[in-house]
Order: sequence, then C-alpha cells, then structure tokens
Amino acid sequence: MILVTGGAGFIGSNFVLQWCANSVEPVLNLDALTYAGNLTNLQSISDYQGHQFVHGDIRDNTLLQKLFADNRPRAVIHFAAESHVDRSITGPQAFIDTNVMGTFRLLEAARKFWNDLEGPEKESFRFLHVSTDEVYGTLGQNEPAFTETTPYAPNSPYSASKAASDHLVRSYFHTYGMPVLTTNCSNNYGPFHFPEKLIPLVIVNALAGKPLPIYGDGQQVRDWLYVEDHCSGIRRVLDAGSLGETYNIGGWNEKANIDIVRIVCGLLDELAPPGSRRVINQKTGKVVEAYSELITYVTDRPGHDRRYAIDARKIERELGWKPAETFDSGIRKTVAWYLANQDWVKNVIDGSYREWIDSQYKVDQQ
Ligand code: NAD
Ligand code: DAU
Repeated sequence: MILVTGGAGFIGSNFVLQWCANSVEPVLNLDALTYAGNLTNLQSISDYQGHQFVHGDIRDNTLLQKLFADNRPRAVIHFAAESHVDRSITGPQAFIDTNVMGTFRLLEAARKFWNDLEGPEKESFRFLHVSTDEVYGTLGQNEPAFTETTPYAPNSPYSASKAASDHLVRSYFHTYGMPVLTTNCSNNYGPFHFPEKLIPLVIVNALAGKPLPIYGDGQQVRDWLYVEDHCSGIRRVLDAGSLGETYNIGGWNEKANIDIVRIVCGLLDELAPPGSRRVINQKTGKVVEAYSELITYVTDRPGHDRRYAIDARKIERELGWKPAETFDSGIRKTVAWYLANQDWVKNVIDGSYREWIDSQYKVDQQ
C-alpha cells in the first residue's frame, strides 16, 4: 500500500481519487482535517475498501510509528502542508509547524521504518515530497523559466517553509541514502480547490455578486496546471523517477491574474448567465450584466512575487510526462464542476472560512 499525507486537501484528494481509479494498490490517507481538509472530497470512494482514512497529524511521532509498523507502506506521497500564501503572511507559525516540523517528523518516521527493511522491500521503498515552484522566488518578465537547478530564493513564509522542507528531504538522501523524490509544481486549478485561492474564489464570489479582488495591478503571472495533470505527473515520478532527483511539473501556461479572472468571467457569462440567474451586484444593488463588472482592484499582497514559470522539460525528456489538458479545456471543466457542485461550495463556506474572508478582505470590500 501507499501512505498519502494531506489526502483530504485539494491536490491530495484529487490524487487519491485518481489513484483509486487506476490502481488496486490500497491507500492509507493521513490527514489532520484542518480548515483545508474536507472528507466530502472523497465521498465517491467512501465505500471502497482500498481507501482507509486516518484522522491524525504528521507531527505525531507515536501515530506515525504505529502507522508505518502496522501498514508497511511501500511509498509515502507527502502532500500535507499549510498551503495558502496569504495565511502565511498573517500567521506564519502554522507553516513552520506543519511544513517544516511536520515534514521532519514524517521523514524521521519513514527513515526508521526504511532502515529496518530488507531486500526488495527496502529497494522499492520511496518517499515522494510534493513541493512548489514558489521556492525559486520570482522572475522578471524576460527571464527564463525555473529549472531544477535554479537557486532557491523563497520570498514568503509559505515558500520559505516549503524550501526548508525540500532541503530536509534532500539531506535525507545525501546523508542517509533514503530513497527520496521531490516534485516542484506550478499553480494548480480544478475540482475541490478551496475557495480562498484565486480561481475558486472568483467563481464563488461572481455567482454571489461579490467583488472579484485583484491584488495590485493584476499583472502578476502564474503558470497554471490542471490538478489531474499534476497528479499524473506525481504518479510518473513515483514509478520512474531517479532517486534523490527533483522534477519540475508545470503546464506551459503562463497567464496574468487579470487575464485568468477575465477568462473565468467569460465562461461564467456563457454557462451561468448572470441576467437569467438574477445575480445582484452586492455593491450597487443592480442586476449583474457581465461578471467582469465585479472586478475590483485591491491592496497588493505584501512581498507579492511577480512571475512564476516552470521549465518542465526534464520530466518530459526523462520520464515522458506531459500535461494532457490544455488551459482552455481544463478551465472550462473547472467552471462547469463548480456550477454542478454548489452543495460542495456551500459546505466549505462554514464559520472558519467566513472569518478568514472577512478579515482578509475587510479594508477593500466593505
Ligand atoms: P490544501 O491546503 O488544499 O490541503 C492540505 C491538506 O493537508 C489538508 O487536507 C489539511 O487538512 C492537511 N494538513 C495540514 N496540516 C496537516 C498536518 N499537520 N497533519 C496532517 N495533515 C495536515 O493544499 P493543496 O493545495 O492540496 O497542496 C498540497 C501540497 O501541494 C502542499 O504541500 C503544497 O505545498 C503543494 N503544492 C500546491 C500547489 C497548488 O497550486 N495548490 C502547487 C504546487 C505544490
Ligand atoms: O505556485 C504554486 C503555488 O500556487 C502553491 O505552492 C500554493 O500552495 C498555492 O496556493 C498557489 O499560490 P499562489 O499564491 O500563486 O495562489 P493564489 O490562488 O493565492 O493566488 C494566485 C495569484 O492571484 C497570486 O498572484 C495572488 C493573486 N490573488 C489571489 C487572491 C486569493 C489575487 O489577485 N486576489 C485574490 O483574492
């Protein structure tokens, strides 16, 4: 079996669903169910025996040792993290606790388990660490995309904590010979994306007639990848990646934030016309004619990285992986998914999520 951490979050749950659809190998899913963890993401496999959920923390040594001893996973796929840059600015502690200390504890538990393995079980064990392109810092407009050898230059507490965890993983390969793999991926989008992040936030706010907040001038560039492509890239690295190596995963799809928001608004105009739904602009009290009229420029994110871009040639050349989805097809699927899953949205918009939105956007939107 494989041990997945953070498998109730956005990417982790997509990974677990994809894994269960493509493999009979069981999954043990360890997740602390923070505000970002949501078991309803996994509702479609709730009766499936090959998936076992454990509610627990990656910082819990005793639990980790027991999970390894009882289940003898042949691989760990480590997604669990605090993942939202804005939250890392207002409250960095949780990022150090989970992303740094949590990864350290998980590595230690995995190392103890792996040390005692023998023969083929030891040979085939893998620890795959899921990381981000944000560890490389920011790019100028004409600079080449990040490669696996771009020096680390994290700029937010989130990216610094992920960089620290990447370094720990690297050190376990070089010092202990542990069979680790690291992936550094660009911005994901798709089903089950928590609506504190740009794309789902825009969909949810637009349908409610609320402002669509654009930080600064909206010209910051991200490289967007459909989440299922990220998951297939991770599976490919797990199957065939060279030990101790890092692999960049990206969508070859750089877009400015304002363009992303306009594309989403255009799709919503087509698939959920605001006039026929009588969406009311919460600021003016008038019926919305086109969702783009809700676009609102707000105060920029402190230390906001200007541009990320991933050079994903290594994973293509060495492992034969390429994204299957274009941005046009992926974003259309995503908008359609949110429209078809309004109950899921309603369920995540609970007390703690509302508190975050109220405090994060209070100055600009009230
Ligand atoms: P997410 O915030 O949606 O989910 C994180 C999950 O981890 C949640 O289910 C949460 O309950 C769980 N978790 C948090 N702290 C935990 C702890 N101490 N113990 C156990 N579980 C805990 O995050 P995501 O967007 O799905 O990202 C998953 C991973 O991928 C992260 O490591 C992130 O850095 C990385 N990543 C994300 C993106 C992206 O665009 N979202 C891109 C590249 C890399
Ligand atoms: O690059 C990979 C990273 O992508 C992951 O490591 C992170 O876990 C993930 O959260 C994501 O980070 P970003 O900060 O790029 O994602 P976010 O959706 O928060 O923001 C995307 C861009 O949109 C960013 O430039 C900030 C901007 N933005 C975001 C929000 C929430 C806005 O303009 N307005 C907003 O309200």
